[in-house]
Amino acid sequence: MSRPKVYVTREINPEALNLLKENCEVTSWTGSSPVPRAELLKNVSDVDALFCLLTDKIDKDLLDKAKKLKVIGTMSVGYDHLQIDEIKSRNIKVGYTPNILTDATAELTIALLLATSRRLLEANREARTGGWAAWSPFWMCGPGLSGSTVGIVGFGRIGQEIGKRLKPFKVKRILYQSRSAKDDQANEIGAERVNFDELLKQSDFVIVTISLAPETANIFNEEAFKKMKPTSIFINTSRGGVVDQDALIKALQNKTIWAAGLDVMTPEPLPLDSPLFKLENCVILPHIGSATLDARKNMALLTSRNIIAALKNEKMPEELIL
Ligand code: DGY
Repeated sequence: MSRPKVYVTREINPEALNLLKENCEVTSWTGSSPVPRAELLKNVSDVDALFCLLTDKIDKDLLDKAKKLKVIGTMSVGYDHLQIDEIKSRNIKVGYTPNILTDATAELTIALLLATSRRLLEANREARTGGWAAWSPFWMCGPGLSGSTVGIVGFGRIGQEIGKRLKPFKVKRILYQSRSAKDDQANEIGAERVNFDELLKQSDFVIVTISLAPETANIFNEEAFKKMKPTSIFINTSRGGVVDQDALIKALQNKTIWAAGLDVMTPEPLPLDSPLFKLENCVILPHIGSATLDARKNMALLTSRNIIAALKNEKMPEELIL
């Protein structure tokens, strides 16, 4: 019997690749940058499964060409790059990678928050380029976490882990906003559920962990930034699409808010001429939330396991219920 065919859209962890090879005929794009669209479309025409990344757009156009596709395994927890209605209408299964990148992303969020509030990148640059004239009472100061109110927008796995990590920093209050109450998880951390407006108004730090969906697109707009404190810090490690980026740029330029730390933006990579790069009060990271060695290895392995299980008609370890 012929083995199922899988297309892998990037060089991946060798163990994850071997796992696929033990079970399937594998073809891969091995470039270090995303597979060119034409190449991707050409390669999906006869595959049973697709191993993709968040940089690959899986839309109607692609699905129309992938007539035999039975399963998509995305090496990500986010799935805004997948056109879910089209996938669902074709009965294609989707596997994704929740849980295993939660700690890595929560860690990075705290790192980004501290880098932004305590101006670490700016301070490092000053030290290296002669800006460090002497210890000075007001130089390189920024808001501290101790005694502050932190608002977490989206209180899923990652939001909750961020909350837990904030506790040792002696924050006074942790607020959260989410569609449904998460009383048990919130009680564990001592977090209080508030609505979006209250969270914006009361928080010294606003952390965004909400996933991108039509109802969350651009929720951080001009109006939202105006509700935040002028001393507040905005941190986004979810998706750039939840932010109206022009409004954020304006808010940072006009000091409507104090600073922003972004691991995600629109588009990615952010063009070098983006006004965001010109702002001293904006820390920009290149979407590295899950970039620990273990998390990335486990994400690749889980994606392979999801695909193999679906091809064998077995329960997938992490199926996205469409
Ligand atoms: C995801 O998995 O969706 C993350 O954004 C990758 O770090």
